[in-house]
Amino acid sequence: MRVGILYSRVRAEEKLLFEAFSQRGVAFDLIDDRKLIFDISGGETYASRYNQYDVIVERCIHHGRALYSLRILNDRGIPTVNSAQVADICGDKLQTTNALAAAGIPSPRTFVAFTAESALEAIEELGYPVVMKPSVGSWGRLLSKINDREAAETLLEHKEVLGTYHHSIFYIQEYIDKPGRDIRAFVVGNETICAIYRDSPHWITNTARGGQASICPVTADLNDLCARAAKAVGGGIVAIDVLEDTERGLLVNEVNYTMEFRNSVLPTGVDIPGRMADFALQVGREGWQAANS
Ligand SMILES: Nc1ncnc2c1ncn2[C@@H]1O[C@H](COP(=O)(O)OP(=O)(O)O)[C@@H](O)[C@H]1O
Ligand SMILES: [Mg+2]
Repeated sequence: MRVGILYSRVRAEEKLLFEAFSQRGVAFDLIDDRKLIFDISGGETYASRYNQYDVIVERCIHHGRALYSLRILNDRGIPTVNSAQVADICGDKLQTTNALAAAGIPSPRTFVAFTAESALEAIEELGYPVVMKPSVGSWGRLLSKINDREAAETLLEHKEVLGTYHHSIFYIQEYIDKPGRDIRAFVVGNETICAIYRDSPHWITNTARGGQASICPVTADLNDLCARAAKAVGGGIVAIDVLEDTERGLLVNEVNYTMEFRNSVLPTGVDIPGRMADFALQVGREGWQAANS
């Protein structure tokens, strides 16, 4: 079995993955995305450099690098974890919400608009407070909770005048009055292998922003919801953010495709990198379809 690990920087997660493959007696090559050059016009000949791999595990920090690398590899028949399709959908909150809705998975009410004027109209229709997010982003960056019309007008004007291209797509969501925490669930293939609560005094509960991790029991409901959400975006290894709504119960907020898990191994007691390595090896042996069926 030849395994490649595509990465940007060796973080705690990558070290844990390296250990997991080593424990399984599997040698792997590191592919540094900072040095990578793909001759995409070269077709088959150039791809042969990567054809030697039974599976490539993607651990890039940048969405663009991950997405394009996976696309290039998949188009040349090289199996990856995750697939380009999963990266494409999960790397973009708009596409994720769209896919979840198509699969009938409960998620916060979300509007999309393309101009500041229509965004304001959408916000007013949704009702305050609303949450506005860059469609592509992570670690809780540039998320806004907008409590009234004046704040909405100011924020929209700032985005219009100062924002880059990304800020011209307005992703607007109802604010879920969650109980001082959200849930981060880890799905591998068809199974929710473990979950944590992320407690925070701040409404943004990401552990990158100081949210505290503790074990969250994987109930039948949570397992089912997250397994279905993973399937809706194409399967694989994903980390799902779930919000608890007092009336509607569990709502899927987003799905992450290059998941971080360093803070979750200890509280859950689950060997997350081990499970990831096993799944990647299964994809290498049997292909993406079989591993996800
Ligand atoms: N609609 C919402 N209602 C309440 N809290 C939210 C909402 N959207 C996001 N949050 C909080 O902000 C955090 C980060 O939002 P998220 O959509 O996951 O973006 P990111 O990709 O930056 O993690 C979530 O984990 C949650 O705690
Ligand atoms: Mg998140």
